[in-house]
Amino acid sequence: MSAENAEELENIRVSYLGRKGQINRLTEELKNKETEERKIVGRLLNDTKQALEDALTTRGQELTNSKRQEWFDPTVPGFVPERGHLHLITQAIQEISGIFEKIGFTRVRYPEVDWDWFAFESLNMPKEHAARDEWETFFVDQPENAKYGKMVLTPHTSNGQPREMMRLKKPPIRMINIAKCYRRQSDVTHNPMFHQFEGLVIDRGINITHLKGTIDHFAKQFYGPKVVSRIRPFHFMFTEPSFEVDFSCIHCSGIGCRFCKSGWHEVGGAGMVHPNVLKAGGIDPNEYSGFAFGWGVERAQLLKPGIELDDIRTMYSSDIRYLRQF
Ligand code: FA5
Repeated sequence: MSAENAEELENIRVSYLGRKGQINRLTEELKNKETEERKIVGRLLNDTKQALEDALTTRGQELTNSKRQEWFDPTVPGFVPERGHLHLITQAIQEISGIFEKIGFTRVRYPEVDWDWFAFESLNMPKEHAARDEWETFFVDQPENAKYGKMVLTPHTSNGQPREMMRLKKPPIRMINIAKCYRRQSDVTHNPMFHQFEGLVIDRGINITHLKGTIDHFAKQFYGPKVVSRIRPFHFMFTEPSFEVDFSCIHCSGIGCRFCKSGWHEVGGAGMVHPNVLKAGGIDPNEYSGFAFGWGVERAQLLKPGIELDDIRTMYSSDIRYLRQF
């Protein structure tokens, strides 16, 4: 069909297929024909009508497509597709790894589903010990291993401690293990799935000043030069002595404000590695000592300006309006 535009095409359609068009006119004439002739001509007319309709549709599509091509203007600026970015917590993990790697730590990843022995027993928490309740653990429905016990979703990244000692066999060890943790908790300050970053340093002559210096270094790198840290006595089965670690509030510099109330934010625990943990990892506590810390990535990131949230679970709500801001 040779119609050059939609108008010509419509004229053709009307002249053949319209109410007063050729096909209808010939159909009208059929009634004057003999029965046998009427059948043959009727069939021919139907076939012709179908062929015409097909040809009109094909040409119509051709015209629409060529119109689209005519419209193309290479000087019009293109549409830039929207670019995504890494999730807020992935960004935090990269920043945290970078800070520790620069001072000689090695980033490792250990199982997020692990045996009880790595998550608890090797960490000086014997079976049935009440301290285990604090971790509110998810157990995996899986037969027990004769040596390592039940399988759990790791409630903390401290399983990385015995695993790293067993991997390297001999100090020096400077590990930063960042992984997902799971606990039966869900409220405005707790996620059932969250991340921790676990530091472990073991060598000859390691003491609390090394721990405090590392904590201070991280605070200044992650939050800025004005932030200071403090350690408070606490209790963990796998460190002795043990501490809780706080950072001064970035908004009020430790005076107290609506974000922090007391001037400080708690980010996690730390301490000197317990001799029983060193032994479990195959390291002689008479020759080596070490420190360890385990802090929440989400909690640490929440303290940064502009990230404050009423509910920590919003970080994983997939609400694009929130995530787009970072
Ligand atoms: C521990 O998990 C110890 N393993 C830390 C540690 C490591 C101590 C090495 C000594 C040596 P704790 O249960 O306090 O400690 O958790 C540490 C941090 O993880 C918390 O301060 C918090 O920042 C984060 N955290 C814990 N539970 C949650 C949760 N449900 N949601 C978000 N963050 C959490």
